[in-house]
Amino acid sequence: MGQLDGRVAVVTGGANGIGRACCERFAEEGADVVIADILDEPAMDTIAAVEKRGGRAAYMHTDASSPTDTETVMQHAIDMFGAIDVLVTAAGISTGGYVSGRPGSEVEVERDPIRRFTEGSLADWQHVLDVNLTGTLLAVRAAARHMHDLGRRGSIITIASIAAKHPGAGAPAYAVSKAGVWMLTKQAALILGPAGIRVNAIGPGFIETDMTAVVRGMPELEQRLLASVPLGRLGNAREVANAALFLASDQSSYFTGEMLHPDGGFYTD
Ligand SMILES: NC(=O)c1ccc[n+]([C@@H]2O[C@H](COP(=O)([O-])OP(=O)(O)OC[C@H]3O[C@@H](n4cnc5c(N)ncnc54)[C@H](O)[C@@H]3O)[C@@H](O)[C@H]2O)c1
Repeated sequence: MGQLDGRVAVVTGGANGIGRACCERFAEEGADVVIADILDEPAMDTIAAVEKRGGRAAYMHTDASSPTDTETVMQHAIDMFGAIDVLVTAAGISTGGYVSGRPGSEVEVERDPIRRFTEGSLADWQHVLDVNLTGTLLAVRAAARHMHDLGRRGSIITIASIAAKHPGAGAPAYAVSKAGVWMLTKQAALILGPAGIRVNAIGPGFIETDMTAVVRGMPELEQRLLASVPLGRLGNAREVANAALFLASDQSSYFTGEMLHPDGGFYTD
């Protein structure tokens, strides 16, 4: 018996990194998975990984910041598998220039932080907020509407970050977007709780994915980051997916409006 037997999960950002690990972990526990992402080829690898674990999977090219794309992929999940029981919103970017699948595509980390803050591009700021924050809102709203209409007591899991509560853990637009995701999660938990829909966040620490490749390429910076992590290492995507599995499953049936931190102890002090 799997913990998610017969359930259907939609995972934004499911083509790579933490989102892909969630797809794989959920499939191991019996779920069918719909992947919403913009990385078409890597999404095929996620499909293969889900099928290898005995699950069914579908992919739709979906820009998380597009209301139309988001509505379409949710309807696709209903058409393909009949329901949405679980949503994970893992689609995200660290800076306006970051492109997943091309580690190191963002170079801003090299620049003087005062100049980056005072002269940084407004278009980049908006792009980060569009994908990370508005994208989360769009997915949460669309999935919750289907869950409510179908009478499903679903579980919604947003991916925030330690940066949601700590200004030093990401660039300004990123940290602000994740703080917004955390408040949105609590708002949605309040509003959707009476319908039996639970909404929780995961706030990962430093996880080994394409998003942290630029840090791992700079040993001094990596050492500085690891000094704030009692376990002394980066986390891996599966460790975040295990937290997502807990929140997706009935094991967490009395959790809502909460944020779990797989962060190696970053928040210990
Ligand atoms: N890696 C970390 O250390 C870390 C820490 C805390 C939070 N997070 C968050 O976890 C989530 C996943 O990040 P990751 O580390 O797996 O990075 P990643 O780059 O490996 O994965 C991000 C995924 O989001 C997708 N994506 C990006 N823009 C999109 C868009 N407009 N529409 C649809 N999909 C889009 C990418 O194609 C990719 O599949 C992000 O929200 C990130 O902010 C990551």
